[in-house]
Amino acid sequence: MGPQAAVERLLSWFARAGADLPWRRGRDRYSVLVSEVMLQATQVARVVPFYERWIARWPTPRALSEAPLGDALAAWSGLGYPRRARNLHRAAAIVATQGWPERLQDLPGVGPYTAAAVHCFADGDDVLPVDVNVARVLARRWPDGWPGPPAGRAWEAGQALMDLGRMICTARAPGCDRGCPLREGCPAADRGHVAEVTPPGRRQGRYAGSMRQRRGRLLAAIATEGRVDVTVDPVAAESLVADGLARRGRRYLLPAR
Ligand code: ADE
Repeated sequence: MGPQAAVERLLSWFARAGADLPWRRGRDRYSVLVSEVMLQATQVARVVPFYERWIARWPTPRALSEAPLGDALAAWSGLGYPRRARNLHRAAAIVATQGWPERLQDLPGVGPYTAAAVHCFADGDDVLPVDVNVARVLARRWPDGWPGPPAGRAWEAGQALMDLGRMICTARAPGCDRGCPLREGCPAADRGHVAEVTPPGRRQGRYAGSMRQRRGRLLAAIATEGRVDVTVDPVAAESLVADGLARRGRRYLLPAR
């Protein structure tokens, strides 16, 4: 089977078995940006309700930029890594006032992956956003290089690779014999050691007892109670203030503005 035929199989599989996800219904840059930033460090199922609430409340960069940062951080509470929300809020202000920059990576919080995702999923450009799932599929099935999508089908190909990596070509228990559309001609499966071909991901450190957890608790408390006594966890409080995620009042930690 030639490489193009394999890509066609992937696309037919996606049409049949791909996930129905809310960010796949829109093609505008802002909603793609919001979903991709949320998906950077958080699993799909967890992101869905946050994404739907966010887009309903702030459907455009202008709407988001007009909201207080504290509201955005409160809406983000539960997704983790709140700097992402702060960056998104700043990016929205830039886009609302100046339009989208020529180089998307000039926006706060937008790196090569997110820029590629916006180009592929909003603009339909033939650039592949390679996250850990996509990297794993490519390393196993196309170690010598991704053949590329058929003309005009970059969006589908990118989304299909993400679903295949999440649903079938998983890191530890790949479903080669559970309907993988790319099984035929897969070098890793032919050698019989698919699970060993797993590019190293960035491991998240332990959450329990971490500074990330302490910061998350404080930020969640500010979001629900409006303020938290700084003496509850002064070190985590200082770190939130240093990151622009909260303000320090006389005795209380307050929502960021
Ligand atoms: N992970 C990152 N982007 C994604 C997308 N668009 N769909 C599913 N999972 C993703």
